[in-house]
Amino acid sequence: MKKRMLAIAVVTLLLLCSCTNTTPQTPVVSGKKMGDLILVGFSQVGAESEWRVAHTESMKAALSEENGYELIYDDARNEQENQLRAIRTFIQQGVDYIVVAPRLETGWDSILQEAKDAGIPVIVIDRDIKVEDRSLYTTYIGSDFYKEGETAVAWLEDLLEKQGRTEDTIRIVHIQGTAGSSAQLGRTSALERGVSRNDNWEKVAQEPCDFTRAKAYEVMSKILRRTKDIDVVYCENDGEALGAIDAMEDVGLKCNAEDGVIVISFDATRLGLEYCLAGKIALNVECNPLQGPYVDAVIKRRQRGEPIEQVKYINETQFDCFTITQEMIDGRGY
Ligand code: AHR
Repeated sequence: MKKRMLAIAVVTLLLLCSCTNTTPQTPVVSGKKMGDLILVGFSQVGAESEWRVAHTESMKAALSEENGYELIYDDARNEQENQLRAIRTFIQQGVDYIVVAPRLETGWDSILQEAKDAGIPVIVIDRDIKVEDRSLYTTYIGSDFYKEGETAVAWLEDLLEKQGRTEDTIRIVHIQGTAGSSAQLGRTSALERGVSRNDNWEKVAQEPCDFTRAKAYEVMSKILRRTKDIDVVYCENDGEALGAIDAMEDVGLKCNAEDGVIVISFDATRLGLEYCLAGKIALNVECNPLQGPYVDAVIKRRQRGEPIEQVKYINETQFDCFTITQEMIDGRGY
């Protein structure tokens, strides 16, 4: 009897043990998964715009488990401090790669040195950075923001010439993106050069609005209380353009390239392009957020030991209110 009881107890114990761990778990060593997945820590700026949301989605889709990755995602809520903290945590977690979409152009030297000392390659995406030692990061994948700005300025010069306004004073309001980000710096310096080579262009206001619709609405409303004599509003992204348009329409101004205020924008998000089709945004210069596949390709190339370009500018286009069609908008990926 005793023997039978003992046998039952042993079998029950064995059964219990086998039930507690039915699904095999991937072993974890000091916060890092073993196996074939590539562990990537991605520090995103935040969610300040429609563009940013599309950018995050593209990254998450490309760095998925099906594609061979384990992704640690961190949203910095528009604070560089949070990005520095996230990167330091990625280093402690022993990730294979760090990907960062930096809020600002400067302030990265020390943290990237820490990553380099830990032997972790860093990929900078979307906005570029300035560091003393270029070897602190592997590659930059993103937009040529100065070129985007030049495209916009050249288009405006051409339009004003066609309209016979090269001798008229052109009063420009400049709504800037996040001050100190490479997106702001590039687009701003292209406009500054445009203003300096066109004697008849006059900047009546210039204010940073952090790439958000709400801030641009607030700032534009304030500017309009001072003056409504405005020919051009140069906004550094679609969110800002929409906010500025709302503010102008509130006070009865018409946004229209033919007989109203000429609004220039960047991004070419779906909503931005709908405004372009409606004639409210005169020109929308594309800033392509679909960067995930480029990052995936670079990582895979590096894994195979293949050479990697130091800079990869993504191809971008432009849309204007005279030539845009619904079909063009429908064919877009974001
Ligand atoms: O860095 C890219 C810019 O950041 C986009 O133009 C803007 O929409 C985003 O928030």
